[in-house]
Amino acid sequence: MIDARAAVLFEAGADPALTDVVLRPPVGEEVLVRIDAVGICHTDISVAARWPARRLPMVFGHEGAGTVVATGPQAELRGGQPVVLTFASCGRCPYCVTGRPAYCESSTDHNMRGDGAGESSALRLDGHPIAGGFFGQSSLATYAIARQGNAVSIDDGLEPALAAPLGCSVQTGVGTVLNALAVRPEDTVVVFGAGAVGLSAVMGARIAGCRTIVAVDPVPQRRDLAIDLGATAAVDPSAGDVTAAVRELTGGGAHAAVDTTAVPEVLTTALTVLRPRGALALVGLGAPVAPLPVGLIMGRGLTVRGVVEGDSEPHTFIPRLVALAKAGELPLERLVTTFAFEDFDAAWSAAKTGRAIKPVLVNGS
Ligand SMILES: NC(=O)c1ccc[n+]([C@@H]2O[C@H](COP(=O)([O-])OP(=O)(O)OC[C@H]3O[C@@H](n4cnc5c(N)ncnc54)[C@H](O)[C@@H]3O)[C@@H](O)[C@H]2O)c1
Ligand SMILES: [Zn+2]
Ligand SMILES: [Zn+2]
Repeated sequence: MIDARAAVLFEAGADPALTDVVLRPPVGEEVLVRIDAVGICHTDISVAARWPARRLPMVFGHEGAGTVVATGPQAELRGGQPVVLTFASCGRCPYCVTGRPAYCESSTDHNMRGDGAGESSALRLDGHPIAGGFFGQSSLATYAIARQGNAVSIDDGLEPALAAPLGCSVQTGVGTVLNALAVRPEDTVVVFGAGAVGLSAVMGARIAGCRTIVAVDPVPQRRDLAIDLGATAAVDPSAGDVTAAVRELTGGGAHAAVDTTAVPEVLTTALTVLRPRGALALVGLGAPVAPLPVGLIMGRGLTVRGVVEGDSEPHTFIPRLVALAKAGELPLERLVTTFAFEDFDAAWSAAKTGRAIKPVLVNGS
């Protein structure tokens, strides 16, 4: 049994609170990971806010980076291996076996539902099993149990605080542009929302060599950061006609757009900024439904598609992101604000309010 500290959600609608928990040893192909750093993603916050009371208490967290400290008998990973934890998948369905694990048939169960609070649960609180297994990790904790499939081996040499967000936000933003939209240097790209995901999409477009990259965000500091990270222009949506501004900046419309806002009106605007045959990637989580401008989509031959985790195969894409970060191509330190693990409350609040773009808890114990 391993003593740990975890951010536990006790009450529907409340914030999680740091609490002592106990983890059981890893079984099967599981690995026990000492979490050296863990990012807070907006998906943690939005899912925690609507988590059903019957599945409480619960531990969230899905951007863990750390070191393997114990392994189940079927695990191939070894103790001491640095890993980035990422989304979980079944490894057997038609999408997993063809390199599309983000679209795993049981993705919702593996990632969004948690593993219940049965006897097999990894976590115990005051001697009773509690729910965990969020994204197969529940890594807002000093230790987490993951499976081999969602623990990605990485090289030494990238600070854990910078490696942590590769597991979700950065993989999602960069992957949406490089993998899903597969932009070319001659393409123009517009990114709606300059948070951790949108700024990662901007960095991805810069890596692809796109000549025009426009970021749209109402927050001035986020627009400035987008420019620093490679956007060639930034538009304030509260200042006027976004469609006209973007169409002018892109010489008649963009080839590709990424929405990270999940605001229904923004989705419509994102379609109006595209040139004929352009594509919009829906990445933001939370718009219940949005109107579909059918005439526009059909008449211009537009593509609208959802993207999960940047379409990535994480065991190849995350090591590629690590190499890009080490080569100075992904200045992750510009997104990350670190907090001591014990300052979880401040980090969660900074994520909720948007004061920090990517709060990362660092486990110094
Ligand atoms: N599809 C996936 O696999 C996946 C993975 C990770 C995160 N997400 C989701 O992606 C979204 C973005 O995550 P994030 O961490 O970057 O969040 P974030 O809140 O930091 O970013 C959203 C940004 O949108 C901006 N915004 C708000 N209104 C706007 C408007 N009208 N026009 C333009 N910009 C506007 C905000 O100022 C903010 O900067 C979240 O919904 C998150 O749950 C999806
Ligand atoms: Zn699967
Ligand atoms: Zn996430």
